[in-house]
Amino acid sequence: MEEDIDDARERPGMDETVQSAGDTYRAESPGVAGTSDEPHPGRPFGVGIDVGGTGVKAAVVDLETGTLVSARVREKTPSPSTPDAVAQAVARIIGRIEESGHRTAQMPTGAGLPGVAKDGWLKTAANIDRSWLDVRAQDVLERHLQRPVLIINDADAAGLAEMRYGAGTGQHGVVLMLTIGTGIGSALFVDDRLVPNTELGHLEYHRRDAETLVSGAARERRKLGWKVWAKEFDGYLDHVYRYFSPDLVILGGGVSKETGRYLQYLTPRGPLKVARLLNSAGIVGAALAAAEAGGYRPPVSAGASEIVAEG
Ligand code: BGC
Repeated sequence: MEEDIDDARERPGMDETVQSAGDTYRAESPGVAGTSDEPHPGRPFGVGIDVGGTGVKAAVVDLETGTLVSARVREKTPSPSTPDAVAQAVARIIGRIEESGHRTAQMPTGAGLPGVAKDGWLKTAANIDRSWLDVRAQDVLERHLQRPVLIINDADAAGLAEMRYGAGTGQHGVVLMLTIGTGIGSALFVDDRLVPNTELGHLEYHRRDAETLVSGAARERRKLGWKVWAKEFDGYLDHVYRYFSPDLVILGGGVSKETGRYLQYLTPRGPLKVARLLNSAGIVGAALAAAEAGGYRPPVSAGASEIVAEG
């Protein structure tokens, strides 16, 4: 089993749903529990879980700043990635975080999953075992973690984090975050409100499901160099700009760490920024979504990142 602990303390963290957590998610107020060695004792914390096609990650998040206050603990996504196998991995990860001294049980806990997330269910499963469609995801995670858990689409989570703490802060109008990794995820915001579950990675592109051609995993599977991949991705991006006329596009996900290799080949029709919270966006956003469902509102954040390309 791959396990990897990243000491993410002191580093900027990196993903709302206005998706009603509604009737079933029993919202908690942000916990202020922590250990004596917490960098900011007494601040509101939440637990964010990010289940991807490749890795399962979690950490404790300071909701005021969107930074991670525990190590980011990661395991490889189990194969097959069935609900119980994934939930067991999540429980082990939370166990490790607890062992390092963080008392998480009272903290709002959110989990980003790679599919359409509605009312605690996962309604699609392109990059995770299809048996997720047969069970209520929220119930499985709550059983394994022994606490209320909010379920949100992973890209929506990443987008929330970028809007609140990262590249999208202060940006009005139409903002679209794309996460490029195992699949392509999307999060669409209109004047700061999330339109959940947009699934733009599945737009048709060259008569195919776009993510099967231009996701990060597709680049590797097709053995494409960055330049060739970037030119194909640019064509996809062009469709997205034409359909939605976004005021800002934010690129995130695994490939946002590699922008030096491909940004120069993109010809966006409008403002484009690279995600600021990188690998932690999904974790931070999931924690934030859970806290917001309980009524928490983070303070308005200041700085946003630079526009790196403009059409
Ligand atoms: C899924 C999306 C998800 C994206 C990134 C896609 O295959 O359909 O729901 O956000 O992958 O994980």
